[in-house]
Amino acid sequence: MKRVAILISGGGSNMVALAQSMTGDHPARPVLVLSNDPDAGGLAKARDLGIDTAVVDHREFPNDRSAFEDRLHVTLDAAQPDIICLAGFMRILTEGFTARYEGRMLNIHPSLLPMYKGLHTHQRALDAGDVEHGCTVHEVTARLDDGPILGQARMAVQDGDTADKLAARLLPLEHALYSAVLRRYAAGDRTPVILA
Ligand code: GAR
Repeated sequence: MKRVAILISGGGSNMVALAQSMTGDHPARPVLVLSNDPDAGGLAKARDLGIDTAVVDHREFPNDRSAFEDRLHVTLDAAQPDIICLAGFMRILTEGFTARYEGRMLNIHPSLLPMYKGLHTHQRALDAGDVEHGCTVHEVTARLDDGPILGQARMAVQDGDTADKLAARLLPLEHALYSAVLRRYAAGDRTPVILA
């Protein structure tokens, strides 16, 4: 059974979807939910699901990213994860950190990568006049929102859409995509998952 740690910064809806998917014949189980924000709403949800939680508050390490990441390492390594899922984790990680977990760290990003790396993806899709939008799960490498693509889900942009409407409509697709990718990935299958 593969051990999965999930890193969050906010509400944790992707974390909940992942955790709830890891039952029965799923080849993985959640062992830790780690947040960089003690106020992240996802922490209480994780505890309700019976998952161990930890906080490494980045604000305790002002101007010292390497000390923050050292603490992340120590906290993660104590849980001995085989796979790390970034699920709305909003801190940029350095090459030193990503290299250590290369090949076993996944991220979900709310755009059809390689389009719109970084922030404000929904507004940028609207501003560009895109007729379709979506989300991507990829392996994490040193480059932001880069790395081999493990799955994408697409949806149409509709008349009257706003960034908030797109985000809300995309979220359930994120949950379905990330869960499907993790199930495959934990079984050793890196064939991309495509949800239309
Ligand atoms: C999700 O939309 C996720 O794709 C996005 O943050 C949200 C987290 O929601 N991630 C990023 O923007 C990463 N750059 P959640 O906390 O409810 O899962």
